[in-house]
Amino acid sequence: MQFELNHVNKIYVSSEENKVFGAKDVNINIHEGDFLALVGPSGSGKTTILNLIAGLIIPTSGHLKHGGKDITSMSLEERTQHRLDYMGFVFQDYQLLPILTAWENVEFPLQLKGFSKKEIHERVDWALAQVGLEKMGNRFPKQLSGGQQQRVSIARAIAGRPQLILADEPTANLDSKTAQEIIELFLRLNREFKLTFVFSTHDQRLIDQVRTVLYIKDGQISEARKNNV
Ligand SMILES: Nc1ncnc2c1ncn2[C@@H]1O[C@H](COP(=O)(O)OP(=O)(O)O)[C@@H](O)[C@H]1O
Ligand SMILES: [Mg+2]
Repeated sequence: MQFELNHVNKIYVSSEENKVFGAKDVNINIHEGDFLALVGPSGSGKTTILNLIAGLIIPTSGHLKHGGKDITSMSLEERTQHRLDYMGFVFQDYQLLPILTAWENVEFPLQLKGFSKKEIHERVDWALAQVGLEKMGNRFPKQLSGGQQQRVSIARAIAGRPQLILADEPTANLDSKTAQEIIELFLRLNREFKLTFVFSTHDQRLIDQVRTVLYIKDGQISEARKNNV
């Protein structure tokens, strides 16, 4: 199913004279199996675009569609359910719950989705194995390295088998070797399961490995590049 942003604007108004374009006439088509990076300096609008795709914020004007359904016309509850049904999230700071083990962190959103106990068990084990942490399910986040914590958060994002993974600067807190490993993991999940990835980064070293690169400047797509990978 396709995600579409058509002429999307997001204006942040902090006061009458202070308006900022977080996104300006953004047009993006996301197809199943895409591997797409939003690249730009801090403040360029990457998080805004990801939050728009997620339905966490709604456009000031323009349209956002998923499989032909207009996300902009959904109620807050519908958007929340839509997000839970179709998307997984990965964050720069992992956002694991410190009082839960790795296994329980992956389990948590599956409980919200209402899977059976047996299915939850299978999915958590599958997801942790996919990220190479099948033996570390009993550890708490603080007993894991940054890269391992990010792997747990990726397991949490994929366990519900979403159509789309959104990741906001997923490698920004990691050293370059670990960042490279995380991108390789994304690429493998993309190839093996046709999982669609949209993520933001300002790490130039990772960009050559990404099929579609959208450069963002002042809320606008300034350049689109396709790599043959
Ligand atoms: N909630 C907000 N209120 C007002 N301005 C915001 C808000 N969120 C982001 N902005 C502004 O929108 C622009 C884009 O921000 P953002 O999407 O966070 O960029 P990036 O993720 O690339 O750093 C920046 O100028 C930022 O200051
Ligand atoms: Mg950001």
